[in-house]
Amino acid sequence: MAGDVLLLGCGRLGSAILEGWLLTEALPPARLVIATPSSKPAAEAARALGARVVTSPEGIEGLSRVVLAVKPGLWRQALAPWLPALAPDAVVLSVMAGVSGADIAAGVEGRPVARLMPTTAVAQAQGVAALWADSLEAAAAAQAAFGRLADLVPLADETLFHAATAVSGCAPAFIHALVEALAEAGAAEGLDPDAAARLARGALRSAAAGEATGAPLAALIDRIASPGGVTRAGLEAMREAGLAPLAAATVEAAIRRSRELG
Ligand SMILES: NC(=O)c1ccc[n+]([C@@H]2O[C@H](COP(=O)([O-])OP(=O)(O)OC[C@H]3O[C@@H](n4cnc5c(N)ncnc54)[C@H](OP(=O)(O)O)[C@@H]3O)[C@@H](O)[C@H]2O)c1
Repeated sequence: MAGDVLLLGCGRLGSAILEGWLLTEALPPARLVIATPSSKPAAEAARALGARVVTSPEGIEGLSRVVLAVKPGLWRQALAPWLPALAPDAVVLSVMAGVSGADIAAGVEGRPVARLMPTTAVAQAQGVAALWADSLEAAAAAQAAFGRLADLVPLADETLFHAATAVSGCAPAFIHALVEALAEAGAAEGLDPDAAARLARGALRSAAAGEATGAPLAALIDRIASPGGVTRAGLEAMREAGLAPLAAATVEAAIRRSRELG
């Protein structure tokens, strides 16, 4: 990928993306232009490595990529002063929720657009991101900028961002809520509440270590739940109590709200 890259917005997600770039060296700091109205630790770390941290496009031209990481309601006014600094074939990568690719393309004179919905674990190069692109060129630019930071999961249809957000961005909170419920159930069975919480949270870390092996979910479950055993009895009770409808209701509610906000 040639040319300089503009990161427009260095808040929670913008900083996480920047930290991921610095960690993985996916983009050389000397090619980064970071636009932020206020000072941010991640931007200062990038500046120390050679990035330009600016509040205006003065003296900057020929940008080949722009990553839109401002709030959805602000992107038009935030991007407007930067439009003359974009190369004619610049690609726009948006991480904003709820702003369609067509709206963005119309605002950047038809340049290629990709949308990504990353988790903030991009900072540790452990993220996951749904990806939709309006062209092969935009998909390639997204891969180059984010491929080392996150598992990029392509979406066939842009409207699937709502569902993808429910099962990735929102889901860590759902999983934490399950861990909390398990701890409460353990306490109800006589465990000290603090001990129950430590045990349940430790179980979550153990599950994450299994997940990190990349083994299929069914294999990870089978490894722990031998036929006729203790874990298998718990799993059967989970299913009988309505695990699948619970998951469906959770995802449906998140999708509904995402559509309302988008
Ligand atoms: N946070 C997440 O986990 C997450 C996940 C997926 C998608 N997103 C999307 O990512 C975007 C950013 O979310 P966020 O949580 O990072 O919000 P945030 O923390 O509020 O960050 C937005 C940043 O935009 C900056 N900004 C405002 N006007 C600007 C301008 N004219 N030029 C450059 N920067 C400007 C703000 O600067 P100041 O701090 O100086 O005001 C702020 O730091 C949103 O569109 C959201 O939908 C976020």
